Amino acid sequence: MCMRFEATCPEGLCPGWSIIVKGEAPSTANKFEINLMCDRDDRIAFHFNPRFSESDIVCNSYVSNRWGQEERSNNFPFGAGEPFQVEIYSDNENFHVFIDDSKILKYKHRVEDLKTVTKVQVTHDINISSVEITKKPYY
Ligand code: GAL
Repeated sequence: MCMRFEATCPEGLCPGWSIIVKGEAPSTANKFEINLMCDRDDRIAFHFNPRFSESDIVCNSYVSNRWGQEERSNNFPFGAGEPFQVEIYSDNENFHVFIDDSKILKYKHRVEDLKTVTKVQVTHDINISSVEITKKPYY
């Protein structure tokens, strides 16, 4: 199972906004990814990559044609065949990731100019129900 969603937002990301992905991992899921990318070049500002085989969430950035240092979380609330919601909220300093409204990690911005982050990609083993980009004034 491989589903792919991509959207570009030419204005780029703004602090105070969230990307909310609702979906379900198929029972045979190996991994899925949410990538926040700079579509003018090949940078991935935030690669959010739950790996079912390792029960780990791998986060990283792809800058200057290579992956940086991984940041991992073994807080792994995903179950194969179970629906979930991932919210990635960004402020000036960090991405904050919530799964089903529980905060599970934060990731300090490595691509500091958020305006250059103009593409959202969701891919691999995920049945996507919706992808929403919304302003969250209350965090
Ligand atoms: C690599 C993998 C990439 C990406 C990266 C993150 O091993 O091939 O797809 O997940 O790790 O550090």
